[in-house]
Amino acid sequence: MDIRKLIAAKVSEYASVPAGDVEAWFEVPPSPDKGDVALPCFKLAKSLRKTPPAIAAELSKAFTGVTGIVKAEPVGGYLNFFLDRSGEARTVIEKILSERENYGSSCEGKNRNVCIDFSSINICKPFGVHHITTTVLGNSLARIYKHLGFNPVRINHLGDWGTQFGKMLVAFKKWGDRETVENSESPMRELVALYVRFHQEAEAHPELEDEARATFRSIELHDPENWALYDWFKEMTLKEAQRTYDLLGVEFDSYNGEAFYEDKMPAVIEELKEKGVTTVDNGMTIVDLSAYNMPPCLILKSNGGTIYPTRDITAAIYRKNTYDFYKNLYVVAYQQNLHFRQVFKTLELMGYDWAKDCVHVNFGMISMPEGTFSTRKGNAIYLEDVLVKAIEKTGAIMREKSPDLENMDEVARQVGVGAVIWGPLYSSRIKDFTFSWDKALNFEGETAPYAQYTHARCCSVLRKADGYDIEKAAWDCLDNESCAALVKAMSALPATIESAAEKYEPYLISRNVIEICSAFNKFYFENRIMDEDEGVRAARLAVTDAARTAIKLGLYLLGIEAPERM
Ligand code: ARG
Repeated sequence: MDIRKLIAAKVSEYASVPAGDVEAWFEVPPSPDKGDVALPCFKLAKSLRKTPPAIAAELSKAFTGVTGIVKAEPVGGYLNFFLDRSGEARTVIEKILSERENYGSSCEGKNRNVCIDFSSINICKPFGVHHITTTVLGNSLARIYKHLGFNPVRINHLGDWGTQFGKMLVAFKKWGDRETVENSESPMRELVALYVRFHQEAEAHPELEDEARATFRSIELHDPENWALYDWFKEMTLKEAQRTYDLLGVEFDSYNGEAFYEDKMPAVIEELKEKGVTTVDNGMTIVDLSAYNMPPCLILKSNGGTIYPTRDITAAIYRKNTYDFYKNLYVVAYQQNLHFRQVFKTLELMGYDWAKDCVHVNFGMISMPEGTFSTRKGNAIYLEDVLVKAIEKTGAIMREKSPDLENMDEVARQVGVGAVIWGPLYSSRIKDFTFSWDKALNFEGETAPYAQYTHARCCSVLRKADGYDIEKAAWDCLDNESCAALVKAMSALPATIESAAEKYEPYLISRNVIEICSAFNKFYFENRIMDEDEGVRAARLAVTDAARTAIKLGLYLLGIEAPERM
């Protein structure tokens, strides 16, 4: 039992105030010799009609002989608690070591599906570095939800429909060639180059645009030859995208993208009309959202064509019918805030009460030192290139730091990729984020390599110790500050995982991981782990083992691997 909760419960009983309020009042005493937790008693003065020093003195009596509390000392208007640190350390460490990778897990989500729409790349467009956040954030949320017992459904809602495929087909037939694409190191780049060329040529020859529109129409009508080509574009793009997903260790349960909803839209459009949700304006079918201070949501263009929101409305209904989701998340940049508000409102107007379970998990922009980029200009920065460069740079650092490392390449991959994943997951997701090579690959900063390095240090200590007997642990030796700080950071992890899920904020976990790592490093420098005394040694090794377990779990939930040697 959390000792703070126990104190709060007792105070709540004594003063008839909500225990939750009391928990929020706790302070950390100015110095460790004044105790571990302080209760400012002036908070109770009003309801008890006594002076704070009198309350502190009286209340202290309620805490004599309470397990977990060494003493409760009234000092002025404060009641200072001295906790049984070694007892607390033992409780936390034994819990972590018995639960291991299940530490902080729960069955809260049993039989509940959570749809997570993330990464959602576009066919024939670059899988650029700007996709990093949606990809790693979505992947982390899937792992976090799984840890809490939910069943995550990871959906890559491909951008595989729209007039741009008409352009691609025209460009390919005019200037492309199958073999060049297939034999290229990067088929995606070949296709993107054709797309870029289309836009260049169309400036001088606007009639190309008409040709593209007509060609897309033929895809809509499933013209066999054009459909086959379109399908092959998809195959080529996904095959290459897979390399990036493999590097990141990201998987999906479904690649049902925009095209998948083509034949499912007519029924939904019919339903929208029947329910009187849509109106016709200038030939377009729209949902008037002026009552909600939003521009109209477009459903059908004046030529009868469907668009992005139409497909998202259809997809949401399909997901509800298929997965009966508990939550339906969209991990998409904040540029699409309005789009999702419109889609969710439209679903609500259709009478779907589950519209409230749809959440736009939005995030800020990423910028690279290399500058801005645009697909049309053909200067996109590919995510794969960034990952490969990170691996190379890490390899160079590792060869210097630990020249004798056996599986150098493997570790360089784990650390290099981890460094890239970490950035967007270390701050609140809505913040814009500037990538910096120096920051990402700094082994001493608040980075993935630092956390991985600390994990490897724990592994190395345990490897050298070659086992310990926890039964012999002399827990009393853990009664010091650096150990208390480490125990506190580790004991916070389960609640952190819960709030990360609740707020869709994995950064809470990465911060907790850093807290554990710096506390462990402090503990490591201040305590002789391989003490001559067997009991002391066992206790300190148990601490190390718990830290290793907690760091590894935290990194796992972020989608980052933890090598045992670095
Ligand atoms: N493909 C879109 C883009 O790159 C993101 C799709 C997000 N998911 C969705 N269901 N709309 O902007």
